[in-house]
Amino acid sequence: MQNVAVQTIEDAVPVEFPVPAGCHAEKVVSVKHYTDRLFAFRITRPQSFRFRSGEFVMIGLPNAAKPVFRAYSIASPAWDEELEFYSIKVQDGPLTQHLQKIKPGDTVLMRQKSTGTLVVDALTPAKRLWMIATGTGIAPFASLIRDPETYDKFEEVVLTNTCRGVAELAYGNELVAALKDDPLIGELATERLRYVAATTREVSPLTGRITTRIEDGSLFAGLGVAPFDPAVDRVMICGSMEMLKDVKALVEKAGLEEGSVSEPGQFVVERAFVG
Ligand code: A2P
Repeated sequence: MQNVAVQTIEDAVPVEFPVPAGCHAEKVVSVKHYTDRLFAFRITRPQSFRFRSGEFVMIGLPNAAKPVFRAYSIASPAWDEELEFYSIKVQDGPLTQHLQKIKPGDTVLMRQKSTGTLVVDALTPAKRLWMIATGTGIAPFASLIRDPETYDKFEEVVLTNTCRGVAELAYGNELVAALKDDPLIGELATERLRYVAATTREVSPLTGRITTRIEDGSLFAGLGVAPFDPAVDRVMICGSMEMLKDVKALVEKAGLEEGSVSEPGQFVVERAFVG
């Protein structure tokens, strides 16, 4: 069994914990803090690890004999050599109180199997794909907008990113800005991806909850497109439980039916990581 050395805070001597069965032990490559509540990190990718863009994996730290694991959407696309994650920081969160302190070279544990419903295969073909994200719910879409397969299946892609404040939009804003220079996906994304960033608790060029903007039609009017139509639109939703419930109700009111990997449909939902 492989062991990893961990430096505990109380003790200068590294403690060795075995890597649990069915886990990869990967190295942190980079960490970027966006706000006091949000950060992103990249880790090495095990050669054998395959996943579909939009899926999540269980992430933990080698800081206990039985480490705490949490579900994390993989924010990098399936073709990337590294794995990227976007995380909230919760001061007493069982995992994130420690995870927020990782540095390049540290070890992160990752279970071997990925899964999830926010994959293009869970949707039936249509013209336009909407990605509705609030908070860290943007992570699976960060993966999908960088995957050529998304544009193979959908002519138009709209990513909506709604956060409380302007600083929380930075991850999404940077991601979309960097896309146009991406050698693999730049041209496709420039032509086909539209990005709508909004805030709810701070003044910015676009304000209001995504539910409000769907209901009053301003989301569609702003893009010059018709409201959700089962013949044209497919929707992926990722955010808090309340947000999922409310957006799902609006999408269902428009006549779209929920799908899954085993039974593809017209919209899919997944809860964004918490705690
Ligand atoms: P608000 O500021 O009005 O609560 P959080 O960080 O709490 O997950 O919130 C991220 C974003 O999701 C915020 O802009 C928040 O708006 C919004 N939000 C929270 N609950 C809902 C909901 N039920 N429907 C739509 N948007 C929501």
